[in-house]
Amino acid sequence: MSLPRLGIDIGGTKCLGVVLGEDGMRLAESRRPTPRGAAAIVSSLAAQAEELAGEVGGVASVGIGMPGLVTRDGVIKASPNLVDVADFPVGRMLSERLGRPVEVDNDATCAVAAEWRVGAAVGRTDVIMVTLGTGIGGGIVANGRLVRGANGFTGEIGHVVVDPDGPPCPCGRRGCWERYASGSGLARLAREAAVGKRLKRIVELAGGDPENVRGENVQAAAREGDPDALAVVDLFGKWVALGLANLTNVLDPQAFVLGGGLAASADLYIGPIQKWFTRLLYAPELRPHPDLTFAVLGEYAGAVGAALLAEVHH
Ligand code: BGC
Repeated sequence: MSLPRLGIDIGGTKCLGVVLGEDGMRLAESRRPTPRGAAAIVSSLAAQAEELAGEVGGVASVGIGMPGLVTRDGVIKASPNLVDVADFPVGRMLSERLGRPVEVDNDATCAVAAEWRVGAAVGRTDVIMVTLGTGIGGGIVANGRLVRGANGFTGEIGHVVVDPDGPPCPCGRRGCWERYASGSGLARLAREAAVGKRLKRIVELAGGDPENVRGENVQAAAREGDPDALAVVDLFGKWVALGLANLTNVLDPQAFVLGGGLAASADLYIGPIQKWFTRLLYAPELRPHPDLTFAVLGEYAGAVGAALLAEVHH
């Protein structure tokens, strides 16, 4: 029997670590807050990895998932949603601390590896994972292989520009898809609508100030059947679908797997996304439509995928 595998997903607020058994079962898990800056992150990751490995009596491999541009040899070049990590050689630093090799990849690439190997996309050969959270992450499996790109930067779908004059993005440019179709995009669409048209119920749920509207307020009002909130959800669905239709043109997938925080409210969005996707596809009447499915690993997808990196990278 082979030793278990360890994976840690570094998020904006927390690092979620898991140990996977041979059958993909989670044998142990832990959460730690994400500290600021490279040195503190490495110390915290090393302690978390050692603790988890100790709990199960040793692990065969260690993998790390992180948001941002991660090179094939484990250097974070840029990460719009983390603080002070530009040009951070996390792979080398952690490997020196632990005295063993460490595999590193983008968080959404880890998530697609997990859903493809042990989740919603088992058995598929062409899959695009879209994580809808604070930003939008992308992971791609094409022709039965995990796609990494020349540098390791494949799948930065959240930063595909859909309006060059659109709102500014933390990546330094304007009008990125994640400004419209992520959790923060949903809140922005609602604030824009609220300031212009006074969306009474949504603004009430946000404490009275249109500037404070968050995605959760839109969801809560939509669940009550509020027509203004449902209109925002429809517009949001249109933006999500636009990106999915564009990605279909590039990669011709069998299926999309939608994950990230917003996937937890999938029932609210799937109708509008499906409706607009069918309308926005190129030649919809002449082609098989990719399936729109939802992630099954929930918040664990990134960490589980990180644990599988040693296997999917080699
Ligand atoms: C980053 C991606 C990341 C995604 C989800 C985006 O802003 O550029 O690298 O996968 O957020 O965390």
